[in-house]
Amino acid sequence: MKIKNISLEVSAASWRQLPTDGLPEVAFIGRSNVGKSSLINMLAGRRNLARTSRTPGKTRTFNCYKVNDRVYFQDLPGLGYARVGRSLRNQWLRMIEDYLMHRQELRAVVHLIDSRHPPMPLDREVLAALRPRKVAYLVALTKVDKLSGNGRTVSRRRMDQVLFECGVNAPIALCSAKTRMGRQELLNQIAALVD
Ligand code: GTP
Ligand code: MG
Repeated sequence: MKIKNISLEVSAASWRQLPTDGLPEVAFIGRSNVGKSSLINMLAGRRNLARTSRTPGKTRTFNCYKVNDRVYFQDLPGLGYARVGRSLRNQWLRMIEDYLMHRQELRAVVHLIDSRHPPMPLDREVLAALRPRKVAYLVALTKVDKLSGNGRTVSRRRMDQVLFECGVNAPIALCSAKTRMGRQELLNQIAALVD
């Protein structure tokens, strides 16, 4: 897949604001600060399309990017961000759950997990929640520029093991928004899923 054009269509704070044109959607989901917005920028080849931040809790709405007029990339708020307070956190969690469970247009989920740490309980919950749904699923291990070659191997093996334990068969891409590692691999996988 080659991204010829990409632009923010809408920042949706509620279900009603999500696009209604029926185009397929690819959701980027993961813990706060894992690098979702950075990965979208990296895939798009743009520096500041999606807003990123060193502090967690930057993305606070479902940011829908229209790609090549035929698919949306959905940059979701991060899971598990504590500082916004319980009520907003629960509101996000409900919308994300609803979205993952019921959104008709959802074709694929890119689940981002920090390559430096083992998947957290929240990540396993995402896996468990998605299992009954017929959506394609793939894992992006992020920030691999911070790991050595051996660290990357360990990270991938650990993820393999978790997927195996959860009974899920899914591709795993080692990614870096900094070095752009994994870019073409992810784009190809996404294209295969939405075509
Ligand atoms: P929320 O919107 O808060 O959920 O965060 P997010 O998942 O969108 O993370 P974001 O893209 O804002 O990145 C968080 C921080 O991690 C920023 O300081 C990024 O520069 C940094 N970061 C993201 N990806 C990478 C990467 O591949 N390598 C390195 N070294 N840093 C990264
Ligand atoms: Mg973000």
